[in-house]
Parts: sequence; C-alpha cells; structure tokens
Amino acid sequence: MPAIEILGLEKTYSVGFWRKRPKRALLPLHLKVEKGEVFGFLGPNGAGKSTTLKLLMGLVFPTSGSAKILDMDLDDPRMKARIGFLPEQPYFYDYLTGQELLNYYAQLSGVPGKERSHRVATMLERVGLKDAANVQLRKFSKGMLQRVGIAQAILHNPEVVFLDEPMSGLDPMGRREVRELMEQLKHEGKTVFFSTHILSDAEALCDRVAVINKGELRGVGAISELTSTVQGKIEIVWRGTAIPAALKNMNAEFFVSGDSVRAILPEQQQEAALETLQRERLHLISLTPLSTSLEEYYLQKVQQASANATQTAAGGRA
Ligand SMILES: Nc1ncnc2c1ncn2[C@@H]1O[C@H](COP(=O)(O)OP(=O)(O)OP(=O)(O)O)[C@@H](O)[C@H]1O
Ligand SMILES: [Mg+2]
Repeated sequence: MPAIEILGLEKTYSVGFWRKRPKRALLPLHLKVEKGEVFGFLGPNGAGKSTTLKLLMGLVFPTSGSAKILDMDLDDPRMKARIGFLPEQPYFYDYLTGQELLNYYAQLSGVPGKERSHRVATMLERVGLKDAANVQLRKFSKGMLQRVGIAQAILHNPEVVFLDEPMSGLDPMGRREVRELMEQLKHEGKTVFFSTHILSDAEALCDRVAVINKGELRGVGAISELTSTVQGKIEIVWRGTAIPAALKNMNAEFFVSGDSVRAILPEQQQEAALETLQRERLHLISLTPLSTSLEEYYLQKVQQASANATQTAAGGRA
C-alpha cells in the first residue's frame, strides 16, 4: 500500500470579476509515494505545488479526481490523525508563546493530557527552541517560526508529513537545521512529501522527485535515474587567447575577453579539458561548477513545451 496515491487530482479555479474565467492550477495528476520515502515536489512559482498540497489536505476541493493517504479517503478523520502538515506561510496567533502554541496543537491532535507537557517540551528541544519556550511568537525570527511550524506538524508523531516549502526564506544555518530535522524524520521511517524550488535541498534529501510546471507533471523518478541522460556544466578560464583544437571538439562554448578565455562545457569533459590545457602549457585561472545535472534536468523540464499547450491556451475546461 503506497503512503500517498493521487488519482487524477485536478483543480480549476474560477477567476475574474464574474468568476467566469477558468484558471487551471493543476492538470490531472497521477502520482504514488511509497511508505518511508522522502519525496520532493519541484517546480517554479505558480507551478501548482501548493495547490496539490492543499487538495491533499482537504483545504480546497478538486475539480475532479481523487487521492488516498494511507489507503484512506481525504476526508477520513482517522487518516488526518496520522498525518502532519506545514503550510507555505504558516500564520500563528503571535501573542502565544512557542510552548502555548504547541500545547494548543497537541490538544487539537488528541495527544492525551498526561503526555502533553512532556511531548511539547521534547518537541521544543528537538527543534532547537527549548530556550524560546516562553517567548511570544511575534518575537521569533523567520527560522524560529518555521521550526515551530515543523514542530506542530510532527508533534503527534504522524506517519506521513507534508511540508510546503519548508526551507523558504531561511538563512544557510536555518536551512541546515530544517534539513537535519527532515533527515531525522527519514531515519524514523516517516514518509515526507515536501515542495521546494531549492534543488540542492532536494538533491541532499530525496529518494525521488517530481517536476511540475504550469500545473502539469513533467517528470518523476529517482534523481540518478532522471539525470542519467543529462550533464551538469562547468566553467574553465585560462590565460591567453588561444583555444586548443582538442577543446574545440568538446561540445564547449568559448568566450574570449581581454587576455583570457572562458569555456563552458559538460562536467564529464573536465578531466580531458584540464589535461589539454596542461599539455598546451596554458595557464589555468579558475574552474567553477555552474550547474548540477539535476539543475539541467529541471531547466529542461520546466522549459519544455506543455503537452497540453493548446488546451491550456484555449483556457481549458473545468
Ligand atoms: N485561490 C486561487 N484562486 C485562483 N487562482 C489560484 C488560487 N490559488 C492558486 N491559484 C493559481 O494557481 C496556480 C498555481 O498556484 P500554486 O500556489 O499551487 O503554485 P506554487 O507551485 O505553490 O507556487 P509558489 O512556488 O509560488 O508557491 C497559480 O497560477 C496561482 O495563481
Ligand atoms: Mg506554493
């Protein structure tokens, strides 16, 4: 039994003054996420990531299609008790302290009274907010708010955790902390479904990813599988204006400016290119990775023409 099974979920909003113009936020989506997987949902702004999560959480209703979480329907309260959710921009009543907020959520999610204060204290410690337990949320930094948001999502020990952009707006330290929390969830065997456009985070954490753009699924699979036909790019700069013939045959682009040459080439050709420069006694100035193969794959998928382009351009049907 998969943890999440999406069966043609689709969402068309009605927009405009008379709400007559259809806006297709999500085209019929089919997707399965297995138990224990960390699954990254990747896509640019407006791709349909939050719409998918809101549909799964039952916060908006699908135009058509359905989905199951832990083999139960989306409106099944037994299922809701076994999942956790961090919304994209969580809003909490900010005169509460971290401890009060978590206590409130613990009550909501049915954590028994006897266990509540211990559970809240453990959770505050786990997300690094022990010292801020009695500080009001309005004094929290963005990173602290994000961590308290994650704490409310995992407080009741859910089996499946949904996180909408858990790293957005965080500084490098904050991102690392959230990443570590997600790694812990993975080690505990939880299923984690999260959306992001930070590809390095997806690369570090995910068993599988899906790429979505303009409401349409463009690719899904393990990162190594998806990127097997795509290569990252590197930039090599050397002194002089000479471009060795061997390099010209390497599927590279060259830019000569002043007294240096800049070449952009596939990462696989790095060794051969460096050997050529050495052989020709050219002075290397720098070598910089420009993009990983996941970035290249993502760009290809996001830029590729939509299979539904004509239907989308025609406004689609609800
Ligand atoms: N309530 C709504 N009414 C009308 N259109 C909406 C509504 N919510 C979302 N949309 C539209 O649906 C599309 C998908 O939005 P969604 O919020 O799912 O994107 P996203 O992938 O989460 O983007 P981001 O990375 O910016 O969070 C967008 O074009 C958006 O404008
Ligand atoms: Mg979003």
